[in-house]
Amino acid sequence: MLLVTICVGSSCSIRGSDELASEIQRFIEKENLADSIEIVGAFCMDACSKGVSIRVGERQFSGILPEDAESFFYREIMSCIDGQAEGKQND
Ligand code: FES
Repeated sequence: MLLVTICVGSSCSIRGSDELASEIQRFIEKENLADSIEIVGAFCMDACSKGVSIRVGERQFSGILPEDAESFFYREIMSCIDGQAEGKQND
């Protein structure tokens, strides 16, 4: 299970963390990955910026905007899922 943690602290909230979470959830459903990815919220990650802070597994990003959701999902989240799948094949 890949954990995607989205900051819901005040700075990130006003920059669209709810909308970003909804968009990412939409792509998770579109790709049929509800059993592989879990979205959770977190308070301030000490990385306030002009966008939303988000953690994918152990990697943290900041400055992500809701309109970046699609590119972020495929670039940073799907690549982790693909990596996990490849890891399983090699086990
Ligand atoms: S409120 Fe999100 S990193 Fe500070």
